[in-house]
This record gives sequence, C-alpha cells and structure tokens, in this order.
Amino acid sequence: SDIPAIIAYTRRTYIMNDGEIAVVKKDSIWVTDRKGNPITKKVFEVNWNAEAAEKGGYEHFMLKEIHEQPKAVRDTISPRINKENTQVVLDELKWTKEYVENFNKIYIVACGTAYHAGLVGKYYIEKLARIPVEIDIASEFRYRDPIIDEHTLTIVISQSGETSDTLAALKESKRLGAKTLAVTNVVGSSIAREADQVMYTWAGPEIAVASTKAYTTQLVAMFLFAMYISGLKGTLTAERTHELLTQLRLLPDEIGRTLEDVEPIKTFAKNYAFNDDVFYIGRSLDYNVALEGSLKLKEISYIHAEAYAAGELKHGTLALIESGVPVIAIATQKGVYEKTLSNIKEVKARDAVIIGIASEDDTELEKYVDHVIKVPSTDELLIPLLTVVPLQLLAYYAAITRGCDVDKPRNLAKSVTVE
Ligand code: AGP
Repeated sequence: SDIPAIIAYTRRTYIMNDGEIAVVKKDSIWVTDRKGNPITKKVFEVNWNAEAAEKGGYEHFMLKEIHEQPKAVRDTISPRINKENTQVVLDELKWTKEYVENFNKIYIVACGTAYHAGLVGKYYIEKLARIPVEIDIASEFRYRDPIIDEHTLTIVISQSGETSDTLAALKESKRLGAKTLAVTNVVGSSIAREADQVMYTWAGPEIAVASTKAYTTQLVAMFLFAMYISGLKGTLTAERTHELLTQLRLLPDEIGRTLEDVEPIKTFAKNYAFNDDVFYIGRSLDYNVALEGSLKLKEISYIHAEAYAAGELKHGTLALIESGVPVIAIATQKGVYEKTLSNIKEVKARDAVIIGIASEDDTELEKYVDHVIKVPSTDELLIPLLTVVPLQLLAYYAAITRGCDVDKPRNLAKSVTVE
C-alpha cells in the first residue's frame, strides 16, 4: 500500500485517489472513476532510490533511521534559512503579515508520535509567534464539533500522510472553513493533496513502524513555521532570531554527537529491559519529550511505560513508585529546573532507580539520580531534538534485549489507514 513495496521494480507510479479504479494488464493500464469514466493520470516519478529504502548495513530500519537524523534534520532545515541565519524562508507558503494576522486560533491535529511533535509545535508557536494554539488527537478532534471559522488555521502532522483519522480531521476543518496546512514526509500523499498548503519534512522514507527521524524533522518543521510567523509578525528581535537560527543550524552535528557513544544506553536498556513498568517524567518541553520516549518504549519492547508531567506525581501517580522502579527524568528546562529537581527527590525518596537526561553543562542533576545521560548544550527550545535521541536508543536496545521484532512490532502498522 506504499511506494517502498514497488520501488525495486519501478520509480514511475500513478498516485490513486479515493474512488478511482485502475485496471492493470501485462501491457496496458487504464483508470476510471466509479462510474467508469476514464481518468488520465499523471506519472509520479519517485525521487528516492531503492537503496534509501533498504537497511544500509544497519541491523534494523529503526536503528538506521535513528542514525539518519542528522542528515534528515539538515535536509529539512537547509533550504529554509537564509545564509546569514537571520530569516526563515518558506517558499511553500509565501504568506504576508496581513494573511497571518487574520488567524486568531491555530489547531494542531495528529496521532501518536506526530501528536507528540504537535505538542512541541504548540509550545513553539505560542512562545515565538504569540498565536493561541489548541492541540488535539485526530480521532477526538473529528468528532467533537470543534469551533472553527475563517480565522482558524488547522495544521495536521503526519509522517505517512495517509492516517485516516488525521485525513478526516483535515477534511472536517476544511468543511468548517479553516485554512489548512499539512506537515508530512510523503510527497503526493493523500493528506498532502487534501491540504491547502504543505510543508514537507525531508526525512527520506521512514520504514520502521516506530517513528524516529520523522519526529525530529516534524519538530524542526514546527520550529521553522513558528519562526516564520514570528518574522512576519515581528514578535522577536533580530538578535534573538539570529541567535535561534544559528543554534538551529548547529543541531544536525549536535544530534550526531548524541549518537556517538551508545554504550551507556545499551547497558541501561539491558539492565531494565525486564522491568514491568518504566516511568518518564519532565516538565514543559521535557514532559512532551517524555511522552514520546514512553511511546517508543511501549510500542517496540512491549514494556508498560507511562510519561507524567513531573508536577502531577503528587496528585496520584506517586503511589506507583516503589523500590527499584526505573524512572527516566528529563531536566533541561531552566524555568522549571528546580521544580523538576524537587520531583526527582520525591521519587528518589521512594527508592526508585533514576536515569537523568540533562544538558552537558548541568553539574547538579548527577547528585540526585543513579545515572545521567548528557546531551550537547543548546537553546532550551531546541534541546528536545537532542533529549529524544537517547530515549529512542533506550527503546531500541530494550526491544533487542527482549527479542522483539523492532521494525514490525506486534499489532501495529506503519500507516493506520483505517479508523
Ligand atoms: C509512531 O512511533 C507510531 N508508529 C504511531 O504513533 C504514528 O506516529 C501514528 O500512527 C501517526 O502516523 P503518521 O505520522 O503517519 O500520521
């Protein structure tokens, strides 16, 4: 049901729309609509080769795609920032200040990992562009009669561009009068063709069911979008804009550095792979990354994992913490760092085993946790692209330790094209 299935045989394809019927014979193809009226299809040339859809020497597609993140992020960034690092240029949008000021609400709608990327996108847009953002899981959004009018922008995020709930949410938004923007990784996908405009994540084909490089490139796309809007509205100083875009351009190399030493993560994965429960905690953007980290672990190692806003622990979930329970604590957000530290102490007091994820210039966290994984220091808005990497690797090695089918986990599909 997707291009990688045929790419070894041809790169020339027809993209079929709902309701179209194709009859393929040895030496002929013809396409009609439901009523039998002939349809002329344009040949779609696939622009990536079979090798890109193969494992490239890695044991699993997931590991290959984790390691492809520096290139995927670089490819998504490069064409969209001017060389002076002073402006985001989105030729795919060509919006004006007036067009943007027409919006009084933005919805971000997605599923799974794409939803987690949307949570970070909400934070970016509200912080940098100062437009209210409401975020929703697509299967909820499409049935809750959302308040939408001509002043609404709906952004849908989808790696495959084929997720049925997300596509339905997109169509519902259009029906109610919203402008729509798709952030997707597949050129010519159903969602790309349905949306008014598209911002592609140039991650290359993502084969593993567990989404990794799509997530980090979705974060980049949301950051670029927020910076683009801030440029049109003038909500950031030129100095702050330059500072952020300079840091953004350094990210691919910093992700590469995060991938250099995976041994400690392999060891943690081996030590904790047979625990029944693992908890992830964090505040603000760290909490959003904790959600993504827990989904990765759940979906490929089948370990029960939950992410909690660290400030929520005392409202009930602290009852689950007992001696020896592994807790992954992410603490990079300066404004809530001390609060996160006090939550970590609460959890430590119940004798949990804590793996901390911190910025490399942090010398405090290691005093309160059992192990620390450090990532390069960068602007705290961008650090989610780094802290998620050890969590992806932790999930991958835990699944390997448990003998799970990493690329094709049980019960799951790469693209959920049914409700
Ligand atoms: C991600 O690891 C999961 N496989 C899944 O949650 C996925 O993100 C979700 O189904 C959405 O897929 P999409 O991005 O292709 O729409």
